[in-house]
Amino acid sequence: MTRHFFEGRSDLFEKYWDTIKEHELRHFFRKYFGKTVEKKDRPYAFVVYGASGYTGSLILEYIYSNADKINLGTDLTFVLAGRTPEKLQARLDEVLEKFPDVKYRPDIFKVNIDSTAHIREMILKCRCVLNVAGPFLNTKADLLVEGCIEYDCDYVDVNGEVPFTHKLIGMHDWAKKKNVLIVPNSAGAGGLPDVAAFYTSEELKKKAKKDADVEKMHCFMFSNGGAPSGGTLATRAAMTASIKHVAKIMGNPFALGGVVGDGKRPEDQDRELNSVRYFKEFEGWSGAFTYAFFDTRLVRRSNWLLSDLGAEPMGRKMNFSEHLLFPTEQAAKSMASSNTSSKKEEEKLKAEGKLFKLGQGLDEETRSKLFTEYHLHANAGDGTTIRTKVIAGDGYDETARLSVEMVLLLTTKRDSLPFEGGVLTPSVAGGRPFLDAIRSSGIAFEVLDDDYKVDFEKVKERLV
Ligand SMILES: NC(=O)c1ccc[n+]([C@@H]2O[C@H](COP(=O)([O-])OP(=O)(O)OC[C@H]3O[C@@H](n4cnc5c(N)ncnc54)[C@H](OP(=O)(O)O)[C@@H]3O)[C@@H](O)[C@H]2O)c1
Repeated sequence: MTRHFFEGRSDLFEKYWDTIKEHELRHFFRKYFGKTVEKKDRPYAFVVYGASGYTGSLILEYIYSNADKINLGTDLTFVLAGRTPEKLQARLDEVLEKFPDVKYRPDIFKVNIDSTAHIREMILKCRCVLNVAGPFLNTKADLLVEGCIEYDCDYVDVNGEVPFTHKLIGMHDWAKKKNVLIVPNSAGAGGLPDVAAFYTSEELKKKAKKDADVEKMHCFMFSNGGAPSGGTLATRAAMTASIKHVAKIMGNPFALGGVVGDGKRPEDQDRELNSVRYFKEFEGWSGAFTYAFFDTRLVRRSNWLLSDLGAEPMGRKMNFSEHLLFPTEQAAKSMASSNTSSKKEEEKLKAEGKLFKLGQGLDEETRSKLFTEYHLHANAGDGTTIRTKVIAGDGYDETARLSVEMVLLLTTKRDSLPFEGGVLTPSVAGGRPFLDAIRSSGIAFEVLDDDYKVDFEKVKERLV
């Protein structure tokens, strides 16, 4: 047909044109005109997409503060891409003022995430994409993930939205087949409790000495404060606006996989996450935690993925739940109602002057005084129990750490990772190397003595 076209035989060209199917045409163009650049020949290690916002600025700071360690500009290079290059440039200039000695300047590319041509051009420049553009539900980030799988490029994001991760799950087998690692949720919320559960399971299995299966794992979040960025508030609003379409996904305790039995065990249901109960192991009370409805889904997915990829799950029938931890029943009850209502939270933030606009969030000085701890308790079928603790900083700084450390592993130590491809959780994609990386960069992971007492004095006053 091409020959007929170039020889000017329009009659023959038109005759054959009508017989060609859509997918044959696509195949033709891809084969003859769609030359790709092999992963090893791409000029940059990674692209950060959508870094003009608040989280993007913390990610840039994390990269620049580790410039010497990662040999930025020689061993490792990155570029920025987004829909508004001027905003990216302004954010970069603001961050660079803090790092006058680092010489590396990333190029900036205009890339619309809803254009497959733009996406393709961006992906062929790098080995990994770190996507920070949210609300994810409102973007075409699933097109970007498709492009990454198609053109052999790993993908990391910081989304905290069950419906968005759910959208990507249909691509799991494709990514597995193509040996591409798709790692959404590499962030403070989601990612950190996911890695904490992985660590706790590993330590319990070591302690039990024989093949132990985790039966129950309970995670308590314990912190002296924090405030959502403007982007996080917009993300919550986006989820509320689309609730008609996503309610079924949001209300499913196994929305991301890992269903146990018929999925109806009482301990796996969401009403358990709202419960106020006394936990003797912690001498404290459980209260509802907004992100428990996200973190539990992710840990359940991790448990399932381990089996799917041929490894040992944490526990074949493991029950995982998560709460905030309080010293008294009264405190747990009063926090529980305000904590899961975004309207009440916004009223409170407004009164405190902490209702941030897009692009804004808590300043560095305030964040430096905040801590986030996860206290976990787990037991195995043989009666062995374990208590662990993870000590980290403010969730937004941890998001920068987790996402960048994941990207560094994917671009510099990919061979050390346990699996080759799939739509994975951070703990499954990164395994032990990821745990070691975030640990050596500052997050503490500890096994506690059985009589360890929680220091409730530390949270007597919430700073923010
Ligand atoms: N799981 C976690 O723990 C965690 C932690 C931090 C952040 N997050 C999530 O990360 C996202 C970003 O948060 P943030 O506080 O940094 O928000 P932000 O300050 O508002 O920044 C949002 C960024 O996304 C870009 N963007 C938004 N819609 C886009 C679209 N349709 N196409 C292309 N780019 C788009 C914006 O680009 P422009 O500059 O062009 O507007 C901006 O760069 C939110 O969804 C938030 O929930 C999750």
